[in-house]
Amino acid sequence: MAKLVFEGTGEEKDVEDGAPIATLCEEAGVPFACTEGICGTCVIEVKEGMDNLNEMTQEELDFIGGPCSERLACQCRIKSGLVKIQF
Ligand code: FES
Repeated sequence: MAKLVFEGTGEEKDVEDGAPIATLCEEAGVPFACTEGICGTCVIEVKEGMDNLNEMTQEELDFIGGPCSERLACQCRIKSGLVKIQF
């Protein structure tokens, strides 16, 4: 079981290992639009645990431009462990 933490509110959510984080992010208030990694609406900042997320998708690489602290929530799966994000 993995854990997703929202830095702003301190809210913590348990997530199945390997599960997408989009639904939990949406419930927490992250805005979504295309859900396909194209529009950039769902951009989040990863404060801790970047290594616990899946590799960036091609859509993320195209939008964000390369590895940094930002990810697109609609493209992220949590592999295991703790990931702390801010939006
Ligand atoms: S909702 Fe459009 S990039 Fe994630």
